[in-house]
Amino acid sequence: MAGPVPELTTRAAACAEALRAAESVLLASHIDADGLTSAAVATTALSRAGIDHEVAFEKQLDADAIAGMASRAFDTVLFTDFGSGQLDVITDHEAAGDFTPVVADHHQPADAETEFHLNPLLFDLDGSTELSGAGTTYVLARALGETRSDEPRAAGEAGANRDLAALAVVGAVGDMQDSTGELVGANRGIVAEGVAAGVLEETTDLALYGKQTRPLPKLLEYANDVRIPGISGSERGATAFLSELEIDLEGENGWRRWVDLDSEERQRVASGLLQRAVARGVPADRIDDLVGTTYLLTDEPAGSQLRDASEFSTLLNATARYERADVGLAVCCGDRDEALAEAETLLSNHRRNLATGIDWVKREGVTQADHLQWFDAGERIRDTIVGIVAGMAMGTDGVRGDRPVIAFATKNETETKVSARGTHRLVRSGLDLSAVVGEAARALDGDGGGHDVAAGATIPTDSKAAFVEHADALVADQLGEA
Ligand code: C5P
Ligand code: C5P
Ligand code: C5P
Ligand code: ZN
Repeated sequence: MAGPVPELTTRAAACAEALRAAESVLLASHIDADGLTSAAVATTALSRAGIDHEVAFEKQLDADAIAGMASRAFDTVLFTDFGSGQLDVITDHEAAGDFTPVVADHHQPADAETEFHLNPLLFDLDGSTELSGAGTTYVLARALGETRSDEPRAAGEAGANRDLAALAVVGAVGDMQDSTGELVGANRGIVAEGVAAGVLEETTDLALYGKQTRPLPKLLEYANDVRIPGISGSERGATAFLSELEIDLEGENGWRRWVDLDSEERQRVASGLLQRAVARGVPADRIDDLVGTTYLLTDEPAGSQLRDASEFSTLLNATARYERADVGLAVCCGDRDEALAEAETLLSNHRRNLATGIDWVKREGVTQADHLQWFDAGERIRDTIVGIVAGMAMGTDGVRGDRPVIAFATKNETETKVSARGTHRLVRSGLDLSAVVGEAARALDGDGGGHDVAAGATIPTDSKAAFVEHADALVADQLGEA
């Protein structure tokens, strides 16, 4: 990866130098899978480099949160998986001498600049598909692993911290950067380094979520990314399909999972699914989506929640989005006892909330505006997961898969959380939800941002209707439907 974007590596070396020069560092990160893995990559690299630091998580990096950090006795603040969008506020503090900021992020930068700002978007890389927060932090960790920044290693010589590539991939997958079926761009270089370091394995496999941990019928029933008529959404259909293929559903230890099948059985199920999809008229490009690249963490046991990068990232969301980022961080940093057990309990709760949330959206339905669709979950869906629910609901019954969806959830007495989700197809047609949500929110005394394909905001609760109207017009402009 050093090859295609040397500027990123050079900037990372400068950031590493700033961290080495610090007395003490406050490491602040975002509370989702990418933010947690970013924090884990950073704290590991800082510790290995002997740099004193403390870790803090924020649900949202607003002016108050940044002021709180400024009031603490750290001379340097390292922001990971956020910071770029708030660079204007951050540089005000820098100018006031409150702290030296180092930012490793992949979100749209605000209109300001600072010396130690590492972001793929500054180097012509796409921050929503080519490099995540954890990937950007991994580039910084590699630089921290170099003993002397003025003496780069010989080409081909692997430096320290390459084992952290596995966490960087979990972060990228957690931000759904593999939604075209595999990781692309600078992420590919990270995968290659992880494979070379022996911590990652990539395989071409069925692109269904839950291959390590879900019972076989559930694996097929819940596969709504590519809907297969008669199987998706139907426990009976999924079970009957597997029985027709003469796949034993139960093994010695209860329900069999995909990992428990031998390669011949996997082949049988995969071809069966493809045949069924063709027979039921699923379009060819959707059928292609059934197969993709799976990223496995070689140090984790088969069948564990941490083996597959996508399942690992869900486990992390289950901690961080419920104010237990400490648990997820401990798991990332290697705690396989107490923290893992606690994370698994949080995960059952998260799964239940996602399922209830999606059921609620399907039952209540969404409202179609002219160019987008929206729903208001009020207090029924937690504001920290309403975006995940919105994304998962797209394309299911009653929720169009070809229009952006905007979701509202109550944040507090006066404010509402907005989450917006689109598709890569819509982005190719001009959609940029970061701009839509940011502009519409700022026009209404709120603020927001994010990525072209997924964005969020906080707005005053009494401006929801105005927000929809504003966002609708912006989407119309972007898609040339005005
Ligand atoms: O903080 P931000 O980068 O962390 O969060 C990304 C969010 O956007 C995640 O919840 C992820 O699920 C969502 N996303 C998405 N589709 C994409 C890319 C990201 O729903 N293609
Ligand atoms: O929770 P997270 O954002 O990591 O979910 C990523 C994707 O994994 C979802 O969009 C969904 O397709 C899948 N998922 C699922 N069942 C769950 C959790 C996640 O199918 N319980
Ligand atoms: O919260 P949600 O999952 O909907 O966030 C989607 C994306 O929007 C994330 O990348 C998040 O960092 C960003 N976001 C933002 N400002 C907000 C809320 C979310 O930039 N106020
Ligand atoms: Zn991120």
